[in-house]
Amino acid sequence: MIETAPGPWPELRTSRLRLRFWEARDAAPFAAQNADEETMRFLGGPMTRAQSDAYIIGTREQWSRDGFGKWVVELAETGEFVGALGLQRMRFDADFTPAVEIAWRMTRSFWGLGYATEAARAAVAFGFETLKLDEILALTVPQNLASRAVMERLGMRLSREFDHPLLPHPHPLCRHVLYRLGQG
Ligand SMILES: CC(C)(COP(=O)(O)OP(=O)(O)OC[C@H]1O[C@@H](n2cnc3c(N)ncnc32)[C@H](O)[C@@H]1OP(=O)(O)O)[C@@H](O)C(=O)NCCC(=O)NCCS
Repeated sequence: MIETAPGPWPELRTSRLRLRFWEARDAAPFAAQNADEETMRFLGGPMTRAQSDAYIIGTREQWSRDGFGKWVVELAETGEFVGALGLQRMRFDADFTPAVEIAWRMTRSFWGLGYATEAARAAVAFGFETLKLDEILALTVPQNLASRAVMERLGMRLSREFDHPLLPHPHPLCRHVLYRLGQG
């Protein structure tokens, strides 16, 4: 059994946002976000409350195991829950692994405000400057244009398409695009 949350874990600040470790009060807004069909369109469909809670436990375990993971993103001014974003080790074997990816999932009412890109820039800087990573990758399905736009705003380069090894093949979401960002 992995011990969770021995912290303190690093927090990041941007002009509008705080990236912080998970707390009990995040479970309800995160479950609401994960129950939204549009938000989960490219992520395997809506989650139940139990699945969302299990995802938080998995995220806390990532921090304990690796020393990094996905943060809660909240509005710095009000503390309102905006989403989840951070760095994680790839969970499968491929010719580009072992590797660290950046991942994001924002609450729909906060889309279109630049929050994902703002938080992601802070996470990328943390990855290169604090974790001393050589490279950060990102994955999504080709049709997730909003997510690809964030990758491109970060300066990530499209590397290629591949079939996700953790999804059955054929599967509507099995085809993925791989983006890469090197230091400097
Ligand atoms: C992917 C996702 C995080 C992108 O969110 P987003 O809000 O579109 O991305 P950004 O934070 O970069 O916001 C960019 C938009 O904010 C606008 N914007 C408004 N104010 C801004 C500001 N102050 N600074 C920067 N951009 C601003 C930009 O013009 C851009 O608008 P556009 O989409 O019309 O071009 C979001 O769509 C999401 O959570 N999707 C569901 C989950 C998902 O698919 N996750 C990815 C799995 S791989």
